[in-house]
Amino acid sequence: MTMTTRTSRAVQLAARPDGFPALSDFRLVEQPVSEPGPGQVLVRNLYMSLDPGMLMQIGAYPGIPMPPFVIGDAMSGDAVGEVVASADPGVPEGALVLHRLGWREYAVAAADAVRIVDPDAYPSPSAYLGFGLVAYAGLTVAAGLREGETVFVSSAAGATGSLAGQIARLLGAGRVVGSAGSAQKVRHVVDKLGFDAAFDYHDEPLTDRLRTVAPAGIDVYFDNVGGAQLRAAVEVMNVGGRIALCGALARQRSGGVPDGGPGDLLPVIGKRLTLRGFTMLDHLNLAPEFGRRLRQWLADGSLVHTETVVDGLENAPQALLDLVRGRYTGKVVVQLTR
Ligand SMILES: NC(=O)c1ccc[n+]([C@@H]2O[C@H](COP(=O)([O-])OP(=O)(O)OC[C@H]3O[C@@H](n4cnc5c(N)ncnc54)[C@H](OP(=O)(O)O)[C@@H]3O)[C@@H](O)[C@H]2O)c1
Repeated sequence: MTMTTRTSRAVQLAARPDGFPALSDFRLVEQPVSEPGPGQVLVRNLYMSLDPGMLMQIGAYPGIPMPPFVIGDAMSGDAVGEVVASADPGVPEGALVLHRLGWREYAVAAADAVRIVDPDAYPSPSAYLGFGLVAYAGLTVAAGLREGETVFVSSAAGATGSLAGQIARLLGAGRVVGSAGSAQKVRHVVDKLGFDAAFDYHDEPLTDRLRTVAPAGIDVYFDNVGGAQLRAAVEVMNVGGRIALCGALARQRSGGVPDGGPGDLLPVIGKRLTLRGFTMLDHLNLAPEFGRRLRQWLADGSLVHTETVVDGLENAPQALLDLVRGRYTGKVVVQLTR
């Protein structure tokens, strides 16, 4: 292996926590960067995604669709960067690429594991790290949203939820309501993202809050959270309602403690509800269709992309912990260039 004169910082998993991670479970290291071998490219990462799902990879929760992070190895996740050296004719130097080797400043990647993307499609390359496709697949495939229906979105100010509510509206939902964790986020969801109504999920009882914002009941619930909000939604769902099970923020926030699930399933039978788990990985075929629609919605101003940019890889572990504690609004990305 030939080394370049460059060095790259990376964040490794230092220890597997028993519960919610601490900063001491991460380690920042600096290592020499190797030249790409045949069929490989060297990517200088520009932005990487922070995703609550990474907490499940850190904690090695059972039954998750991604492999757990390995102690002593660099962590990984979606990143977008520029190819600075290539040993593959299919991926030229200078290309902007999307790949899975985040949590490091430089990545040596197999050329067939990176996807070349258009640098001019969005105002910032960080937009490629958004979770719009998750929202779109959840609404269209998992929930089968129909025109005029009432949609409830939890974590509505978050990366996926903020897009799920707006996309539901653009796909013809009749009423879009959401929940978030503070009065400020509730205002953001209604005033900036155009939800019809929203509530703070700390205000109990949740079934009353839901009945107030959705007096005609809920047809589609886009669930980012699980736990108490899922149990309340089941009670307020209309006959034939569909629940797209996207995320597990309640469990991620608690450090992995199972959240009690959807509770009493009798109303699921009585109301002929569908609860369908899904992962974006099964719906990548929708990416071109969704990408076209997203660019159109952004261009004509019908969709707002909310993003928080955290500066520097050294701040990424703290930002990941803060993300799930509710510090940010919208998608959180880390800018990696020094
Ligand atoms: N199925 C898939 O393919 C797929 C793909 C991507 C993401 N996901 C999952 O979908 C979920 C949402 O992902 P995201 O990136 O969009 O995250 P996100 O919603 O941006 O997550 C951060 C937010 O979570 C909220 N939160 C934390 N604990 C909570 C709790 N106990 N109850 C309610 N809200 C809580 C906080 O908002 P508040 O301040 O409002 O509390 C925080 O700002 C995650 O579970 C993620 O792992 C699934």
